[in-house]
Amino acid sequence: SLPVPWVQDLAKDKLGVVPERYVRTDQDPVIIPDSASLPQVPVINLQKLSSGDSIDSELQRLHHACKEWGFFQLINHGMSDSLLEDVKSGILEFFNLPMDQKKKFWQVPGELEGFGQAFVVSEQQKLEWADAFHMITLPTYLRKPHLFPKLPQPFRLRKIPQHNNKHKPRFPSQNFHESSLELRDTLETYSAETKNLAVRILNLMAKALGMEAKEIDDLFIDGWQGMRMNYYPPCPQPELVMGLNPHSDADALTLLLQVNEIEGLQIRKDGMWVPVKTLPNAFVVNIGDTMEMVSNGIYRSIEHRGTVNALKERISMATFYSPNMDAEIGPAPTLVTPESPARFRRISVAEHMKGCLSGELRGKAYLDTMR
Ligand code: SIN
Ligand code: FE2
Repeated sequence: SLPVPWVQDLAKDKLGVVPERYVRTDQDPVIIPDSASLPQVPVINLQKLSSGDSIDSELQRLHHACKEWGFFQLINHGMSDSLLEDVKSGILEFFNLPMDQKKKFWQVPGELEGFGQAFVVSEQQKLEWADAFHMITLPTYLRKPHLFPKLPQPFRLRKIPQHNNKHKPRFPSQNFHESSLELRDTLETYSAETKNLAVRILNLMAKALGMEAKEIDDLFIDGWQGMRMNYYPPCPQPELVMGLNPHSDADALTLLLQVNEIEGLQIRKDGMWVPVKTLPNAFVVNIGDTMEMVSNGIYRSIEHRGTVNALKERISMATFYSPNMDAEIGPAPTLVTPESPARFRRISVAEHMKGCLSGELRGKAYLDTMR
């Protein structure tokens, strides 16, 4: 990727108008429809899927959400509020680090990881109104030495006051640099917990689809995980820009944490762009291209985009989960029958990642090459 301006700084300059490189004429207009009149992304209660009388009906609701929406909001997912609060404050502080510290995390030319925008291949190309930080978190041997291991760490030598319980109520930090020194440990825990949650959801999907549990285990037991933090500064002309270009996710399952309460995610549903509401500490879960292929097209990887607004910054954190590096992606054998023949060809994970990251195919174009 080519180096791009830091949008957070652009926005601080209080420009009256958006620079030409961000003005989009190639996109559906950004109109925030009256959400009261629109259907809402289904809400799934994970607790109901673990015990009680409603297991079967909730599993049917999950199945329906994955078929008809490709998206749902997950509540009662079991991840603690205190961990999620640490993730959220850590991300905010990371984006607010001084420039000389952020520079250490800048994209290396030719790589997608680090701070920067993905898929920027020419000076003419339109840019997104956002800053992003992307990194691979699992398997651990794929972690870039200058990224995850160098994230701010707890300052262990600091004398910790007796009442400074890491969990609430949080001891007010002297300044944000001090409290930001925790991101690395927080994300280590978050990586493990989001992996477990993703595998649990994938197993529930397998059950709803009538797959064998082994078909999911073999694919996902030691999967690939990536994280992307998105920072969308306020924009003087939000209707002229894109925070995040329309795309479908290449992975199997994405868990999105809306870091602050500001909305902006929209998903394409029956030809409309439907905004996704913010439910505090819920996960917005979506099916990626890989799971569309594994489910033989029963579940759908839906296009979505990020919009921005004039007044408030918006922050989000996506965690992507994909199969084991040595796996092969393709329709699960139990879902291929004479009545429903395979709708996708098989491909190695390595080849799949190369195809998705080449950056030339956006939206659903990549998946179409797999049919
Ligand atoms: C966002 O809602 O900010 C990001 C959604 C995505 O990762 O595609
Ligand atoms: Fe996405």
